[in-house]
Amino acid sequence: MARFPVEPFKIKVVEPIRQTTLAQREEILQQAGYNLFAVRAEDIYIDLLTDSGTSAMSDSQWAGMMAGDESYAGCRNFFNLEEAVRSITGFRYFVPTHQGRAAENVLFTCTIEPGQSVPSNMHFDTTQANVIARGGDPVNLLAEEGLDPTSHAPFKGDVDIERLEAFIQQVGPESVPLGMLTVTNNSGGGQPVSMANIRATGEVLHRYGIPFFLDACRYAENAYFIKLREPGYADTPVLEIAREMFSYADGCTMSAKKDALVNIGGFLAMNDEELYQRACQQLILREGFPTYGGLAGRDLEALARGLWEGVDERYLAYRVAHTRYLADRMVEESIPILEPPGGHAVYLDARRFLPHIPQAELPGQALTCALFLEGGIRGVEIGSVMFAREDVETGEMIYPELELVRLAIPRRVYTQAHLDYVAETCQRLYECREEIGGLRYTYAPDLLRHFTARFEPL
Ligand SMILES: Cc1ncc(COP(=O)(O)O)c(C=O)c1O
Repeated sequence: MARFPVEPFKIKVVEPIRQTTLAQREEILQQAGYNLFAVRAEDIYIDLLTDSGTSAMSDSQWAGMMAGDESYAGCRNFFNLEEAVRSITGFRYFVPTHQGRAAENVLFTCTIEPGQSVPSNMHFDTTQANVIARGGDPVNLLAEEGLDPTSHAPFKGDVDIERLEAFIQQVGPESVPLGMLTVTNNSGGGQPVSMANIRATGEVLHRYGIPFFLDACRYAENAYFIKLREPGYADTPVLEIAREMFSYADGCTMSAKKDALVNIGGFLAMNDEELYQRACQQLILREGFPTYGGLAGRDLEALARGLWEGVDERYLAYRVAHTRYLADRMVEESIPILEPPGGHAVYLDARRFLPHIPQAELPGQALTCALFLEGGIRGVEIGSVMFAREDVETGEMIYPELELVRLAIPRRVYTQAHLDYVAETCQRLYECREEIGGLRYTYAPDLLRHFTARFEPL
């Protein structure tokens, strides 16, 4: 039996949750067009839709909110944040943004010309969409073992270095305005990237004069996995590991709603002064003045404090073990999940959970609906709904290799009993999996389809 990690905090504020009846959930799901994004949060019992912006903030962060300086320019909270960002990432310049995708938008507006390509281990949905929105081509070059849900390799977020170099040679370095790595790899199971791979990615990109950016939302969880799994790092403090990770890159985009433990916020950081100046122009146009960037002074303060809390090793040890606990409970019941678990979520492998549903009938989405019906739990599909793309030449759908349902665990929010409930609900569902049927679209927008698509049962 898995052991539950003891929380390095105690609970001071609570928010009631309520369970609905099966009949209510059937009605709610139908009204929502079988898309859990369209369900009211109050109708969810355990909300594992995302770990983004759903953290419980600490008393120190809440106290920081009261110390918000709401001056338009030069508020003191900006300088506290600047100190945290500079000290942790080492990058010379940064601008705050209201969240990660705004940082992506500003960065790509400054760098990508139509027809250019941006290679990565695996782009997340907003990154992919923001590259496409600039007329660019987001290219995923994840190493093969990252695509095998049963492989226990320690760093399944690694990019395939040989394919990366071959890709640059094939399209020409002038067609690659930047390269990226997502740490940890959210679309591929929250899997970490090794230090060796981050270093090698930087070397390859720099050899061709291409800037290297980290999508750093979960950089602290990634750093902790390096400490746990990569030879030579067991005795290195996480903060030092994080600094080394950033040292190989030229900048990063950050959704602070993850490892900086805030409900809103992000930033874009870089070393290149000229890029920084262009980013400031874009920021003023889209987000706000460079010392607040779409956030209130109080948000900047919570973010500055959250960044430090996010690299606390006692917190990270709990965080990773908490997620592992849920994964271990699933494995004990032979429920197919992506293994080993990442830091922020347990991913059900919908292909093995529902082998009778072909990808064209959206098994991942069907599984998210079934989970809600069975237990009022909300997860998110990371599979064909999110990532299937039409082949421009043949018009045929290209389906992603991984068909997953992510059960993302909000930070410092749910207890052992909540996770036990999730595991038991999954177990019941797995026992009657043959009764679950597929879905078809009744509405499917072109961009970021999963947020607003609607479905009906087949
Ligand atoms: C890897 C990754 N990149 C970028 C983003 C976008 O961040 P945000 O939701 O703050 O815009 C997310 C959000 O889930 C993410 O997981």
